[in-house]
Amino acid sequence: MDQITFHVPNHYVDMVELAKARDIDPNKFLIGIGQEKMAVPTIEEDIVAMAANAANRIVTEEDKELIDQVIFATESGFDFSKSAATYIHQMLGIQPFAKAYEVKHACYGGTAALISAFNYVKLNPERKVLVIMSDISRYGLNSGGEATQGAGAIAMLVTANPRILALDSETLSLTDNQFDFWRPSYAEVPYVQGKYSTELYIEMFNTIIEEYAKRYPESLSELQAISFHLPFTKMGRKCLQSLENKEETNLDSELVERWFSHYEDSTFIGRQVGNVYTGSLYLSLISLLNFDENLEEGQRIGMFSYGSGAVAELFTGVLQPGFKDHISKEGTLLHLNRREKLDISAYEENFEQTLSNEDGVIEVVKDKETLHPGFYLDRIDDHRRYYNEITTK
Ligand code: HMG
Repeated sequence: MDQITFHVPNHYVDMVELAKARDIDPNKFLIGIGQEKMAVPTIEEDIVAMAANAANRIVTEEDKELIDQVIFATESGFDFSKSAATYIHQMLGIQPFAKAYEVKHACYGGTAALISAFNYVKLNPERKVLVIMSDISRYGLNSGGEATQGAGAIAMLVTANPRILALDSETLSLTDNQFDFWRPSYAEVPYVQGKYSTELYIEMFNTIIEEYAKRYPESLSELQAISFHLPFTKMGRKCLQSLENKEETNLDSELVERWFSHYEDSTFIGRQVGNVYTGSLYLSLISLLNFDENLEEGQRIGMFSYGSGAVAELFTGVLQPGFKDHISKEGTLLHLNRREKLDISAYEENFEQTLSNEDGVIEVVKDKETLHPGFYLDRIDDHRRYYNEITTK
């Protein structure tokens, strides 16, 4: 992982205000699930626009000639055939002989893309892969999952000589065909068994950790911290607590304590954003790298990826010399703090806005003066999406 960054929409909802509007004790959201703000995309901030805004921040002119693949992970795709990656290939001006494609498996898709990129650069050490994850998490107004919505994109450059994190070859994955969260092609929002989904997540985490401890005991004992896929920031804490509460385990309790000591810093961004599905694990990783002052070069960190349906994977990487020069806590704070708050009625009105699927030209944005700098969905012309960029405000 040579470079990594994120992009979140220009608006958010305050979770205390949402709780009050739903007649719920705000502490349920703030403490019970661990969320303070929820990112809310407006209609022109679709998965491609968010992804292009993230990728544009890390891809240099030189990279554009060296990138051989653009892999776009999403579960919010708007086309069953044409991939979202081809738009990014054009918008960023990547060299024509690259391949661009989309991958899907719920929130696990981003990790599938990353591991595929890792394998490619191992075989082609002079070349680079651009991995993108972009999603809009929607459960519906007043739904059981409403407080765990969010939106955002992650972009990362994968190279053979990474400046941030060198991934290890040892990984362990687990598949279990389940219905905890799924969205048939005809459904606007997912079907979800909320409580069961959290239980399955914890169960799969435990199964993987115990097996990993048997297969790679040295690697596990070296793990300084673990970043989790965070649909809400209490989720990783629940996993670590489940290890603490176990009666029979191969794990050293000091190890679990060490992972706990780093956990809070990995949740900072997620608390302000919510679930970004494929990118959520990587938002936790960026958060850990930005806010954990105790991380040092040479330390090994773990990443636990989970995608409903369900696939999970635990993989690891070693922090590279000078990694702190390639992350920016100030940049992260500026990006989060630039956002404007929507009150609950504006959020609800925004939620109900949908793109027209009529023939002909549809101008997506009525008043371009209100837009923030960056890429946005400009118009749909005979069912083809076209994007534009505002470079200054
Ligand atoms: P719920 O029924 O709204 O909440 O569901 P709850 O009653 O279970 O309460 C949540 C927590 O708040 C509990 O703590 C309560 O005790 C606590 P816990 O027992 O879990 O530790 N609580 C309070 N705490 C302090 N003060 C209070 C208070 N009141 C209650 N006053 C749920 C919550 C997350 C299930 C729901 O929002 C949901 O269904 N969300 C969507 C599904 C989801 O996020 N599942 C996570 C695992 S699956 C996954 O990660 C994959 C996913 O990202 C999709 C993909 O892979 O594509 C979702």
